Amino acid sequence: MEFNIKSGHPEKQRTACVVVGIYEPRRLTDVAKRIDDVSQGHISSILRRGDLEGRAGQTLLLHNVPNTLADRILLVGCGRERELGDNQYRKIVTKAIRTLHETGSMEAVCYLSELNVRGRDTAWRVRQAIETAQSALYVFDQLKTKKESTRRPLRKIVFTVASRRELPRADQARREAQKIAEGVKLAKDLANLPGNICTPTYLAEQAKDLCTLHENLSCKVLLENHLERQGLKALLAVSKGSNESPRMIVLEYQAATRKSAEPIVLVGKGVTFDSGGISLKPSKDMDEMKYDMSGAAAVLGTMSAVAELQLPLNLIGIIPAVENLPGSKAVKPGDIVTSLSGQSIEILNTDAEGRLILCDALTYAERYNPDVVIDIATLTGACVIALGKHAHGLLSNHNPLTNDLVSAGKFSGDRAWELPLWDDYQDQLESRFADIANIGGRDAGTITAACFLSRFTRKYHWAHLDIAGTAWVSDKKEKGATGRPVPLLTQYLIDRSNEDDLYILSEQVEY
Ligand code: BES
Ligand code: MN
Ligand code: ZN
Repeated sequence: MEFNIKSGHPEKQRTACVVVGIYEPRRLTDVAKRIDDVSQGHISSILRRGDLEGRAGQTLLLHNVPNTLADRILLVGCGRERELGDNQYRKIVTKAIRTLHETGSMEAVCYLSELNVRGRDTAWRVRQAIETAQSALYVFDQLKTKKESTRRPLRKIVFTVASRRELPRADQARREAQKIAEGVKLAKDLANLPGNICTPTYLAEQAKDLCTLHENLSCKVLLENHLERQGLKALLAVSKGSNESPRMIVLEYQAATRKSAEPIVLVGKGVTFDSGGISLKPSKDMDEMKYDMSGAAAVLGTMSAVAELQLPLNLIGIIPAVENLPGSKAVKPGDIVTSLSGQSIEILNTDAEGRLILCDALTYAERYNPDVVIDIATLTGACVIALGKHAHGLLSNHNPLTNDLVSAGKFSGDRAWELPLWDDYQDQLESRFADIANIGGRDAGTITAACFLSRFTRKYHWAHLDIAGTAWVSDKKEKGATGRPVPLLTQYLIDRSNEDDLYILSEQVEY
């Protein structure tokens, strides 16, 4: 899809379709008013007849509107102006884009980016419009032999801004949005692939492919014998029950203006299929455990967006990738392993495997002397119970990092909500026979999982995003990966690179 930004009068657009909003009840937006004026009341007379109330998501396609240059005008209901918030805006844009796609307009000029969204500016509206448009048209049909094709698909959308002065900022927003949307698409595609295709080996190949596209992105892949030699025994314990060989993928992106700047490290859980192992899961919905590598997919999607945007920072991506199956060599409940950190772990439930691969990856991260480490994992069913599918669970040992992530989530519409990481919960992880147990009982499952990880992150600032509820949608019709939290993470990194600019400026001022 091609996206552009411009400003100009709606009646003068020579295009397949001009998209304008109508508020409820039957109230014209400024742009609709303008078309109404030049067409001698064409639109208001239609509204008066009762064809469109203006409820959010309603649409009406008009042809031959007098004194306009477009082939069509698509009216889109926007609901009550006073109630127009983030979610409503995304819903309206989604509806408009899908309607365009299905009604034969191959290109369009869309004025919905000028709607009055509560508390949001032009740049935000452009960003969200483009990201929303891209995901409204997403389909995963790689594995279907008969693809549903649209005869005249939408190819190009121009979003408008009210004045020429806003063009530079809006165009920067467009650039960011396109790269974020590409990162989201990459994450979705990887996560949607089934476990028999998207194996640890496949993930490593994808990481290498990504690196060939970018000069300052490089990749190294640790194989089973490396992992053995280095002592990542917790990770290897999970992989033992499967014939798929494990990988640890390390991506390095170097573009900080100070070469030595400490990197930000992202660690993504890459369980390409989680059967539970010997602690086998029930069969209902087990297919969804192909999504258990969504954290890994988000790391790859985010690194792609960052590299495309050429953000001036150093970023490391670490992806422990394994398959969790109950083969005859599988790790068993009661087995004790020594992690890379030296701490011994009693594996009381082989289905609590995410924390086992993450703890070694988090210890591995120490060698980068990181500024902050953020792990992303479909870690606990308990998180779905606590927060549903709307917010990521967020737990951290560093308040400023929590605040940065929460606000990046609010801005990008990809929100996280903090849960407490209090020491009070640590007792639940006590083991009779090892330093720590890998499960903490029924209470507060998301928190005890994070407490487990916290034992391996004492040497740096760290945050954990539990994306068990947010990484994919289960409803039959809409089933699929969401690409979250690529928007949150990329926004956090954009914010961090802006702040570093200021830092360098102030350094220069001192000299
Ligand atoms: N990948 C699952 C978590 C999960 C379950 C995510 C359902 C999304 C939907 C994870 O490996 C797991 O199995 N966690 C266990 C932990 C328990 C054994 C302590 C869980 O949540 O049941
Ligand atoms: Mn599991
Ligand atoms: Zn899992």
